[in-house]
Amino acid sequence: MRAVVLQEYNSNLGRIIRSLSVQEKEVRAPGDDEVLVRMDCAPCNPSDIAFLRGMYIVSRPVPVIPGFEGTGKIVATGTSHSALSLAGKKVSCFSQGSEEGTWAEYVTVSAGHCIPVREGLSVEQAACLAVNPFTAAGLMEIAAADRHRAVILTAAGGQVSTFIRKMAAGKGIPVINIVRSDHQVRALSEQGEHYVLNQKDDTFADRLKSLSKQLEATIAFDAIGGEMTGILLNAMPHDSQVILYGGLSGLPAANLDILEVIFHGKSLRGFNLADWISQTGVERFSEISGQLQDQIISGKLTTRIQATFPFEQVVRGLLQYVGNMSKGKVLFVP
Ligand SMILES: NC(=O)c1ccc[n+]([C@@H]2O[C@H](COP(=O)([O-])OP(=O)(O)OC[C@H]3O[C@@H](n4cnc5c(N)ncnc54)[C@H](OP(=O)(O)O)[C@@H]3O)[C@@H](O)[C@H]2O)c1
Repeated sequence: MRAVVLQEYNSNLGRIIRSLSVQEKEVRAPGDDEVLVRMDCAPCNPSDIAFLRGMYIVSRPVPVIPGFEGTGKIVATGTSHSALSLAGKKVSCFSQGSEEGTWAEYVTVSAGHCIPVREGLSVEQAACLAVNPFTAAGLMEIAAADRHRAVILTAAGGQVSTFIRKMAAGKGIPVINIVRSDHQVRALSEQGEHYVLNQKDDTFADRLKSLSKQLEATIAFDAIGGEMTGILLNAMPHDSQVILYGGLSGLPAANLDILEVIFHGKSLRGFNLADWISQTGVERFSEISGQLQDQIISGKLTTRIQATFPFEQVVRGLLQYVGNMSKGKVLFVP
């Protein structure tokens, strides 16, 4: 089969993207509880970029096929009940731990890492189903359970934030959107967002403080880390929490005022989709999956796609994506 291959990890973004090539690889037959998926397409997410740079929690021996999610049809299965029950189905799948990546014609993954796709879900939306929509659902579940009155989003132009914004609107929860350019401020304002702040403005921290007080925004979902995490917690009202779920800055969370934590009840915690899925349980996960897919099929929720590239143009596709991530995902087709 043909697959995109990473020969060696390298933290230099431009160099690592340009080093990728398409090579012939063996297809691995599925084990008992595994399935073989013939891939239709797979997106690039920030976790894929971090993986290529050797900066992600998952590191696999090189040479390696990248890609953590995608969609395709199951063409062979192992002998377990859960594997056999997926035979012939269209699925969204994700690869975890030591599994192979999805930027390939075929991928062998655990049956538990496949989500059957409903009739009517487009290939493009199915390719981006397994990670971001569920992350947004998991984060919103926390916001709703703890009865937060308003939510703060960093990297608000991204796809997880876009899902959260739509879900929050459905529950009547206002959102304070934080972006990093005036262009993105305009884009979100044009979409009808009332509260959009540019983190590069001199008055950003002060405006965040007064807005979060006004709206009683006591929860923030932070995908950036670095100085942003501290700025958020310092600006938010008493008893606020920041949930760190991404590290787009590539820097350690910093700048946190210790007095705010000790005397104003503020806290920081993480969110990891894989942990949330295992805590959620199979039945509830399948219920949430159905609800998400229905909303995506009806157009209420959507992953923005900026372009699709064949594997041979993986370098061009990745350069386009990292040059403008807010514009949407890029997809790779075999
Ligand atoms: N914890 C979990 O389980 C989990 C699950 C899913 C996703 N995530 C994380 O969620 C985050 C967002 O993912 P996504 O798929 O929504 O991303 P995305 O759609 O690709 O968009 C990324 C967004 O982040 C902005 N951005 C990138 N680097 C930034 C920086 N250094 N400072 C400020 N903004 C920056 C981009 O703005 P520009 O357009 O200006 O580049 C863009 O709006 C990622 O960190 C991802 O790893 C975590």
